[in-house]
Amino acid sequence: MADVMLKGIKKSYGPVDVIKGVDIEIKDGEFVVFVGPSGCGKSTLLRMIAGLEDISGGSLEIGGTVVNDIPASQRGIAMVFQSYAIFPHMTVRENVAFGLTIAGASKAEKEEKVAEAARILQMEHLLDRRPSQLSGGQRQRVAIGRAIVRKPEVFLFDEPLSNLDAALRLDMRIEIGKLHKSLGATMVYVTHDQVEAMTLADKIVVLKDGYVQQVGAPMDLYHRPENLFVAGFIGAPSMNFLPVDIVSRDADSAHVQSSLVTQFAAPVWREGIGASGAATLGIRPQDLHPVDSGGILTGNVTLAERLGIETVVDVALSDGTRILCSMAEDRVFEPGQEIHLDFDPARAHLFAQDPQAKAA
Ligand SMILES: Nc1ncnc2c1ncn2[C@@H]1O[C@H](COP(=O)(O)OP(=O)(O)OP(=O)(O)O)[C@@H](O)[C@H]1O
Ligand SMILES: [Mg+2]
Repeated sequence: MADVMLKGIKKSYGPVDVIKGVDIEIKDGEFVVFVGPSGCGKSTLLRMIAGLEDISGGSLEIGGTVVNDIPASQRGIAMVFQSYAIFPHMTVRENVAFGLTIAGASKAEKEEKVAEAARILQMEHLLDRRPSQLSGGQRQRVAIGRAIVRKPEVFLFDEPLSNLDAALRLDMRIEIGKLHKSLGATMVYVTHDQVEAMTLADKIVVLKDGYVQQVGAPMDLYHRPENLFVAGFIGAPSMNFLPVDIVSRDADSAHVQSSLVTQFAAPVWREGIGASGAATLGIRPQDLHPVDSGGILTGNVTLAERLGIETVVDVALSDGTRILCSMAEDRVFEPGQEIHLDFDPARAHLFAQDPQAKAA
């Protein structure tokens, strides 16, 4: 079993605390994705799991054993990096077999394992080529092949697709998803790409400033973000936020309004929403739609981006606040035109005026 448990994990570089106490449970066979802004500590966490960085505090368990002091080579882990470090002077076959060669494997064993990896990654026809004769996606497959032949119980991927163009990323994303299903191995994957995170993950871990903000299935994070940071981070374009006042509240809803927002009842399930006072209203751009008159918000179009499959409209409200509205159709809007927007109140997100993100 290759569960990976992070308990109170900390990392400091000298006086600088980078990972500030992280608890994450990764179950055997699970596909877990780490997301978060640049510098939040994703790669550092992955490198600590791999054994490439010392752990400053807490315990890391793999398969029930504390591995804090066990060297990388004995952790049963293979890591695939963003810059696929494959050797230009070796053929694909030699590159894929590299780890086995170093470990002193026999010729027969190498042939068998390379053949299996090549079959899984559909690159049997590429084995005698050199890296310079491969496309970017094919090179990335070589790097993954090199990880596969080691039969790791845990695969770690650090932005493996970010050097590829959009079409190749899509292909490779599908291949990595298939690989996870066919191997059944535990996978931990770092990405900046929301689509990769949402489509590949069983579980997403949202990180900010060395803290875990929320852990959950992709749709949990999308539909029930626990704080403003997660709400703004998951979903594209980002959720709109507007300050509102609470007029009254009952068990599971609160009437809210502001100088910009017509009064309505928003569902309440998060902690910290009182019977009065200030709160933050969150509305996803996709939940807003234009209406001929009335609506919950009124403003003027500043810009409309027509993408064919969707139209994203940037709207300035009367006090200058900008919000986005995204509709799944091609529509024409003129800059300056007045626009009334409405939405289903059940889709409102109401947040207490707490700190933006967890910091302890
Ligand atoms: N060797 C080091 N010495 C000091 N600080 C470091 C070192 N390595 C990383 N850091 C700092 O640790 C923090 C986390 O870095 P990390 O590489 O884990 O971020 P990341 O989330 O992977 O970011 P990105 O999305 O840009 O790859 C950053 O602020 C970085 O500057
Ligand atoms: Mg990184």
